[in-house]
Amino acid sequence: MSFRISVLGTGYLGTTHAAGMAELGYDVLGLDVDADKVARLARGEVPFHEPGLAELVRTHTRSGRLRFTTDFAAAAAFADVHFLAVGTPQSADGEAADLSHLRAAVDALAPHLERPCVVVGKSTVPVGTAAELAGRLAGLAPAGRAVELAWNPEFLREGHAVADTLAPDRIVVGAASELAEKVLREVYGDLLERGVPFLATDLATAELVKVAANSFLATKVSFVNAMAEVCEAAGADVTVLARAIGLDERIGPRFLRAGVGFGGGCLPKDVRAFRARARELGGDSAAALLGEVDRINLRARERVLALARRALGGVLAGRRIAVLGAAFKPDTDDVRDSPALDVAAAAARAGARVTVYDPAAGRSGAAARPELAFADSLEAAARGADLVLLLTEWAEFRTADPRRLAALVAAPVLVDGRNALDRAAWTAAGWTVHAPGRPAPRS
Ligand code: UDX
Repeated sequence: MSFRISVLGTGYLGTTHAAGMAELGYDVLGLDVDADKVARLARGEVPFHEPGLAELVRTHTRSGRLRFTTDFAAAAAFADVHFLAVGTPQSADGEAADLSHLRAAVDALAPHLERPCVVVGKSTVPVGTAAELAGRLAGLAPAGRAVELAWNPEFLREGHAVADTLAPDRIVVGAASELAEKVLREVYGDLLERGVPFLATDLATAELVKVAANSFLATKVSFVNAMAEVCEAAGADVTVLARAIGLDERIGPRFLRAGVGFGGGCLPKDVRAFRARARELGGDSAAALLGEVDRINLRARERVLALARRALGGVLAGRRIAVLGAAFKPDTDDVRDSPALDVAAAAARAGARVTVYDPAAGRSGAAARPELAFADSLEAAARGADLVLLLTEWAEFRTADPRRLAALVAAPVLVDGRNALDRAAWTAAGWTVHAPGRPAPRS
């Protein structure tokens, strides 16, 4: 049977999922409460930078397979499978996740659900949320228990969102009933035929898989940043250490790049929300571990700023710093909880004259931090700088010619806050190169 699909919430996750489902051949209705966003998406405009997504949305809005609405009754009448993809940000007053958008979406949809259907949560939530929503759905939907709930967490990475949706490394489905699981096996049938592993589980495990995966990645990054602290104290080199331990297949080389730490719309908030939930459940060891992961991560930002101060002879005030990067990682214009912007703002607060350049996140960075100056090019940012501070490892920076930049700056001093540049090449071009977790340059 060919299902009709709705996707509630057309942010990053929802837009990508809706377009991906259309690409898999389904008729899809995306829903958002933001009428302006809906109008733009319906015209095929994607309001953020994500490789390949705008093309996909344009193709399928043109073909008519992908449409958008603000009308919950229309979504309920249209679809057999409703995906919940609304945001679950960190709450304003603590570490826990704010579930108000998710509850509001369920409460708005449920009274219109008059026939059997499956509601599928994709948002990242504290374990136990799905069970709560199942009760809400059963209470509010005219179809009652004929509305099935499943949880199908999303693992997409920004910058790879389309590929992660159409060729995921696994599909995890927590379902309260065999029917819900069967429906999702069919929805993802094409992907399963291509060999994508499908893991069927209960609701709670599915919810936990997502936060555990993100917490593990965060732990890896904080582990290597903790090693960087020790390496600095011991005069050792964390980049060589990471390469050496990463060659052990059991450890693996990825997520072992020491630097300014992790950021973005997911890892930091998920670590905090999981910590809060683990504490509530009496999982004190997990809570303690995640608290340390968060602290190491925030300290990594402070340590890179301290390195910049040392590189400038101990004083930031009045010095010109060219900050390379504003996005939380390359290939995105997302600046949510960006370590780069955080460090740039802290340097400016300490009196440095900061100019930021980012290949894609200039506009979003300026909107988030209006107090910072932004340049339109690497050269413009670097001109006359006393220090170049790399904070996001865009290819444009990794491939930049250190000789040409050396001619533009006031002093060829570099802090490579991501351990991303070729230290030997920059040193050969006359730069003094400082980097977290590496021996100080010879003076
Ligand atoms: C992450 C998860 O990878 C994804 O599965 C989940 O669905 C959402 O959260 P994303 O936020 O796009 O995806 O970023 P990711 O590529 O995981 O990077 C997270 C942060 O870690 C970035 O700030 C990155 O710069 C940092 N990082 C990564 C390091 O500091 N060092 C590393 O070695 C790797």
